Amino acid sequence: MGSGKILCTILSLFSQFMAAFSNLQQNENPSMGFHGGEKGTGSSLLSEVVQLHIQKDYVVLDNGILQVTLSNPGGHVTGIQYNGLENLLETDNGESDRGYWDVVWSGEGVTRKKGNLDRLDGTNLTVVVESEEKVEISFTRMWNSSLQAKVVPLNFDKRYVMLRGSSGFYTYAIYEHLRGWPAFDLDNTRIVFKLTRQKFRYMAIADNRQRYMPLPEDRSPERGQTLAYPEAVLLVHPVEPEFEGEVDDKYAYSCESKDISVHGWISADPLVGFWQITPSHEFRTGGPLKQFLTSHVGPTNLGVMHSTHYAGADVTIKIGPNEPWKKVYGPVFAYVNSLSDGRDPLSLWKDAKKQMMNEVHKWPYDFIASEDFPPSKQRGSVGGRLLVLERYVSNATISAEGAYVGLAAPGEAGSWQLESKGYQFWTKTDEGGNFTINGIRPGDYNLYAWVPGFIGDYKFTSVININSGSNIDIGDLVYEAPRNGSTLWEIGFPDRSAAEFYIPDANPKYINKLYLKQERYRQYGLWERYAELYPKADLVFTVGKSNHTTDWFFAQVTRKKDNTTYEGTTWQIKFLLDEVDERAAYKLRMALATANVAELEVRVNEPNANPVFSTGEIGKDNTIARHGIHGLYRLFNVDIPGAQLLIGNNTIFLTQTASISPFQGVMYDYIRLEGPPPPHKAL
Ligand SMILES: *[C@@H]1O[C@H](CO)[C@@H](O)[C@H](O)[C@H]1NC(C)=O
Ligand SMILES: *[C@@H]1O[C@H](CO)[C@@H](O)[C@H](O)[C@H]1NC(C)=O
Ligand SMILES: *[C@@H]1O[C@H](CO)[C@@H](O)[C@H](O)[C@H]1NC(C)=O
Ligand SMILES: *[C@@H]1O[C@H](CO)[C@@H](O)[C@H](O)[C@H]1NC(C)=O
Ligand SMILES: *[C@@H]1O[C@H](CO)[C@@H](O)[C@H](O)[C@H]1NC(C)=O
Ligand SMILES: *[C@@H]1O[C@H](CO)[C@@H](O)[C@H](O)[C@H]1NC(C)=O
Ligand SMILES: *[C@@H]1O[C@H](CO)[C@@H](O)[C@H](O)[C@H]1NC(C)=O
Ligand SMILES: *[C@@H]1O[C@H](CO)[C@@H](O)[C@H](O)[C@H]1NC(C)=O
Repeated sequence: MGSGKILCTILSLFSQFMAAFSNLQQNENPSMGFHGGEKGTGSSLLSEVVQLHIQKDYVVLDNGILQVTLSNPGGHVTGIQYNGLENLLETDNGESDRGYWDVVWSGEGVTRKKGNLDRLDGTNLTVVVESEEKVEISFTRMWNSSLQAKVVPLNFDKRYVMLRGSSGFYTYAIYEHLRGWPAFDLDNTRIVFKLTRQKFRYMAIADNRQRYMPLPEDRSPERGQTLAYPEAVLLVHPVEPEFEGEVDDKYAYSCESKDISVHGWISADPLVGFWQITPSHEFRTGGPLKQFLTSHVGPTNLGVMHSTHYAGADVTIKIGPNEPWKKVYGPVFAYVNSLSDGRDPLSLWKDAKKQMMNEVHKWPYDFIASEDFPPSKQRGSVGGRLLVLERYVSNATISAEGAYVGLAAPGEAGSWQLESKGYQFWTKTDEGGNFTINGIRPGDYNLYAWVPGFIGDYKFTSVININSGSNIDIGDLVYEAPRNGSTLWEIGFPDRSAAEFYIPDANPKYINKLYLKQERYRQYGLWERYAELYPKADLVFTVGKSNHTTDWFFAQVTRKKDNTTYEGTTWQIKFLLDEVDERAAYKLRMALATANVAELEVRVNEPNANPVFSTGEIGKDNTIARHGIHGLYRLFNVDIPGAQLLIGNNTIFLTQTASISPFQGVMYDYIRLEGPPPPHKAL
């Protein structure tokens, strides 16, 4: 013990010296003035070795650049010391409320409506690797039946990895459920970092989505007014007057999974950035378009790996009593960078993006110790070319440019949207429709795709088995888009989003300044604007006269009747037909971008007749309240008997009947009416 302590002191003196030295070195580089990035390769003489200090209640990882303190054996991040800041995390918060993994779950006998929150307190620390180049430690909790219903029935293993010369640390978690254990539902899992309130004020989640943020106390009842749901708060008396009249709502900062690779916060004094980098999205639920929270007032930085947001209960991970299940979430990289005084703080964001690219190039990491994380050489790849056949556009196949192609668990076409237990691997095709997906974990998959500009979902017929080192060339794949006849008319563009439709200006009482000129659908309260724009009669769209960018409201929402009741709405599409084959079937292709506890009925020419089609109750996406412009994609193919159509003026009535709340309704992606198939032509 005694000599260990002395050694510690010497090492700590050495580390202070080295830190000073390395600062000096970096400050001598006038072009950047950065502290961050990689210092290992080439200059490892300059970088300190990684050290692990284990105390009774704490563990410290230290590579001379930053010191990360974790509770022992809980495995929560309690401190990140960096660049003269004692702690980047908020020390007013308890030690298990600064940097932590958690799950929201429910099981038999767990009655709380929102499920149980389990902060995954570890019970055992294991040192997995301890060398000069790398330290990896593990905090586990093994489930047993005496814990029944008190904690989630999972073994978990939370890992933290620090490398020599690296300006940050990695974390990942392995969850495992064994046969015979209780069934449970997993609604949400994530890693959370809560940063110092007074320091981290500027948030950046994308090049065009960054701003100086309000303080958390601005949301308190004394300073803010809760709006239609607790997450949305109107800032009435914020500490800084510049935020007065703005709405703060974490859902305004949601992002599609494909775009969540780096996001975080900047402190102006000292100039320090804290970033979460996600080099791969393989472990996230629901494919590339699934939306997740990112960062929000707190200052909070989230890594949400699984959630039901913008999709609903259908994506919940449901584990049966006899179902073995294991999944690795992460690794993600917590990256810190800094700048000398007087530099442009936004260079920290640019540097974080550069670091993100470095991490992407290193993926799949080769320094992860768990056998459950296969390194590159144990993974496989699939390549090919996707073509589209749309005979009413061209008799030849055309390249599927900009298509999303991915591998996910075997299922129906489009099932990847709801898939949450396994891993998904996605890419986009180039202008020739070519694609290559690398770094695929061994396993059985279906290959799925969808193509902007075309409706529906593609699935390759055979299951694809990926083995260690597989390198599969699947050749040409042809997606035959749903189509029965020529286009009589269409509304919108088929890309699974309602962004091309009319987005109203926000109510001036409820503004987020970030979205005045861009992504205007992210403003709070747009659902109320419908009844203001259409106070007496519902929307009518006349084919040939109306324009979907100005005349098709982005969401078919309910109409407020009085202070507490709402009513459904009926939209009309008016169109002219010069001829009608009354014995033929016409086809209405109705692609929805989202639905929330809605029921959509279709009538033709007779507003009071029985509907020719009803969706039944669909959707729990909750996209309208959460300012997403899409949730889950749903395609309905509705037969319209020719006998119901008229030569001359026709009207299709779209009635959304569900009307208990302002957040019920649908967003359309695209609607098309197809004429009858040519009777005798073999197409
Ligand atoms: C706790 O960790 C120690 C050290 O790695 C290990 O020997 C022991 O088996 C672990 N105990 C449990 C209950 O996992
Ligand atoms: C079950 O787990 C708890 C918490 O880790 C532990 O205290 C207890 O000893 C375990 N019981 C058995 C029978 O292993
Ligand atoms: C496709 O071929 C058929 C039969 O030759 C022809 O009638 C039709 O016009 C062609 N379609 C297009 C879009 O070129
Ligand atoms: C796509 O792949 C095809 C066949 O492998 C090749 O001939 C073509 O040049 C590629 N196109 C592009 C744009 O890379
Ligand atoms: C209509 O299209 C579907 C797929 O889009 C196809 O399966 C069906 O055979 C078509 N029916 C006719 C009559 O062309
Ligand atoms: C529809 O309106 C948009 C925006 O005003 C305009 O750019 C576009 O040209 C219009 N389209 C047609 C077909 O008139
Ligand atoms: C509706 O709410 C407003 C404002 O709170 C109030 O003035 C009005 O009396 C209410 N109307 C009804 C019918 O309850
Ligand atoms: C269709 O309706 C419009 C507007 O109501 C009317 O001007 C037009 O004459 C009608 N066309 C036919 C063919 O009935």
